[in-house]
Amino acid sequence: MRIAVCGKGGSGKSTIAALLAKEMAKTKNVLVLDIDESNYGLHSQLGMAAPRDLMEYFGGKKGFKEKLRAAPKTTQFWGLAANEGTSGQPVQQQSRFFKNRWSFSDLPPEFVEEKDGVKLMAVGKIHDFGEGCACPMGTLTREFLENLDLGKDDVVIVDTEAGTEHFGRGVDKDFDLILVVVDPSYESLKLSKKFDEFGAQCGCKVYFVLNKVEPDIREEMLASVNCVNVVAEIPAKREIFKASLKGEELDFELDEIKKLAAFLEKIELLKH
Ligand SMILES: Nc1ncnc2c1ncn2[C@@H]1O[C@H](COP(=O)(O)OP(=O)(O)OP(=O)(O)O)[C@@H](O)[C@H]1O
Ligand SMILES: [Mg+2]
Repeated sequence: MRIAVCGKGGSGKSTIAALLAKEMAKTKNVLVLDIDESNYGLHSQLGMAAPRDLMEYFGGKKGFKEKLRAAPKTTQFWGLAANEGTSGQPVQQQSRFFKNRWSFSDLPPEFVEEKDGVKLMAVGKIHDFGEGCACPMGTLTREFLENLDLGKDDVVIVDTEAGTEHFGRGVDKDFDLILVVVDPSYESLKLSKKFDEFGAQCGCKVYFVLNKVEPDIREEMLASVNCVNVVAEIPAKREIFKASLKGEELDFELDEIKKLAAFLEKIELLKH
């Protein structure tokens, strides 16, 4: 199952991704993929060291860009529907960057951090002034997700960058579902409508997680989003805020996250 966690900047994407990963790892194999090139906090929330950028595996941004230029467009994707063979059967075309398809056991260990059954990988970060745009990271994210085979108990949770750029990069079509984290702000509530539209465009089911909910604003938040698809309401919690302030691991359990994990497992079961 591939889950994207999206939302406005600061809405709580990384917090929800980390808490959900920890919860789901009790029964599933979980990989958290950090595709946010400009934030550095997710690994601390998971109690891990920062993983090496997957981009380095491909020679860094420079090497990756060269490979990108050299690769003919026709060998762009493994995608099953990319081409049809003479028998009329779909043909898998080789990725530009991956020699073989990967499963969780093929992930290069030097690019994976792991704790309590949660694996963490990061596509890449902006490290230096003037190093160029983040577009190669979007390409690598897409190809990585397309090249990854999941077993029935494997879950990938992708912590995205703030806003809607990943939709522009076409990353989101590779997910089974999108969780939009909505905090109590006008901008976040407005943006939730945009996420609904993008989800419909890429054929991906969109669910909403209301975050930092307090009793006196709950109704207003529900009235502003597509409340039929609200699948969790996470209260504003002082302990989350404090842990984040100190860069500490989110080492506690929330009933609302347990319910969210159970819901996601149920819809996965319904698919089979
Ligand atoms: N339920 C909550 N209760 C209290 N504080 C919260 C809650 N969820 C998130 N926060 C706080 O909100 C801030 C932003 O959270 P987080 O970093 O998870 O957001 P984000 O959407 O990943 O941000 P960015 O867009 O920068 O990646 C942090 O200080 C975090 O501790
Ligand atoms: Mg974040």
